[in-house]
Amino acid sequence: MPTQASPGPILHESAARPPSPAAGPAGTPGYVYLMATVAALGGLLFGFDTAIINGALVFLKKDFGLTDPQTELAASSILFGAVVGAAVAGWLTDRYGRRRLLFGAALLFTLSALAAAVPRTLTEFVVARLAGGLAIGLASLLVPLYIAEIAPARIRGQLVTLNQLAIVTGILLAYVASYYLSGLGLASWRWMFATAALPSLLFMVTLLLVPESPRWLLGQGREAEAMGTLIRLNGPAAAATEAAEIQAALAAERGEEANLYQPRLRQPLRIAVVLAVLQQITGINTILYYGSIIFTEHSGQSAASAIGANALIGGINFAGTIVALFVIDRVGRKPLLLTASGGMTLALGALVVAMHLGAPGPWLLGLIMLYVACFAVGLGPGVWVVITEIFPNAVRGRGASLATVALWIACTVVSFTFLSLVKAAGLAGAFGLYAGLSALTFLFVWRAVPETKGRTLEEIERGWQA
Ligand code: GLC
Repeated sequence: MPTQASPGPILHESAARPPSPAAGPAGTPGYVYLMATVAALGGLLFGFDTAIINGALVFLKKDFGLTDPQTELAASSILFGAVVGAAVAGWLTDRYGRRRLLFGAALLFTLSALAAAVPRTLTEFVVARLAGGLAIGLASLLVPLYIAEIAPARIRGQLVTLNQLAIVTGILLAYVASYYLSGLGLASWRWMFATAALPSLLFMVTLLLVPESPRWLLGQGREAEAMGTLIRLNGPAAAATEAAEIQAALAAERGEEANLYQPRLRQPLRIAVVLAVLQQITGINTILYYGSIIFTEHSGQSAASAIGANALIGGINFAGTIVALFVIDRVGRKPLLLTASGGMTLALGALVVAMHLGAPGPWLLGLIMLYVACFAVGLGPGVWVVITEIFPNAVRGRGASLATVALWIACTVVSFTFLSLVKAAGLAGAFGLYAGLSALTFLFVWRAVPETKGRTLEEIERGWQA
């Protein structure tokens, strides 16, 4: 893990330079919020599609008579799809634009929801879920990236956090859907997957209203279109300043190769990839994916109270994200990331101690909720914000894509190893490991991550040249 002492050039520059006028006019049009909300439907589907498998799996397993390895394949196909989707998304979006690929993701979401509802064999089901995974991989990168590119600097953190709120809402909706649909018996899993078709269609239709990212358009030399969108997003005065700033950044990039691996981009690349991995290896999805198992098998609760515990966790995840939404552009990314990782370390540390002391179930649940709350106010939204804002325009898609691939690989590894880890080291051992990794996250953020709040993407870009 890198432990370089430099806080990054942006910090120094940030102190010296007044905020750019392109940081946005005083009153931001509702239009930006509306466009960000439409894009965030992609986040909702990402959350729903990753979480719905938990409720569906029990029925699918019985219905198809699956063995354990076959069940694992059914559950994990979506993660493999997501890795591939995130990997191809960067190159494709730098070439073909944000909007077209978002549309492609919406189409894949719709097709996979329908296909996952009607398979006759495991193979057909796996293919449908792989397609759903591709959609998730595309959306997980494109939605925050698109929002970061249309947002005025002073509310960029908030708007990208809107996507995280949508992810968390999708996870909650999946819990609710599987709870109610499970009453339909053995075939209920088909309805659980089919449910996603409705929001997918809504996403596809509303995307028709969304304009292409002006930053991408300017990179393609499509100035008139870009200006039209910038005016609608920011008002005419700020649009002119912002267009000039984006053009200047693009001109500077043209002087050098649009190469993601050039020396001056090593720092943002390292920060984005390491943060993405840390967001996952601190264990959040073990709680979100295996909550029921944890509560029934390890803290002696009934299945009904495990469902209640899952709902509480989903609720606290949602509430914490709302807090982030309102503070991320005021207090900044770094303080939130530090508070989150510090709080997660303490909550998990206390959880390990409480388990050793044999503390009662409600205590354990309380500490787990504290851990999730800390994640929700910082590491959840903050990492997506940082990885989509620290790369230059010309390579933003590819840079953020690399970090997103790392995130999905880390997510896959953590989900695959969790149950064996618990077998080998106990639940306390597993959470002890995540506590240690949370502490490492705190150190990394403290030493390596610069503050980017309130700065335009072009100001952030210039920071890497210092
Ligand atoms: C973030 C993570 C995702 C997780 C979610 C939970 O979006 O990237 O893996 O499931 O937060 O809130």
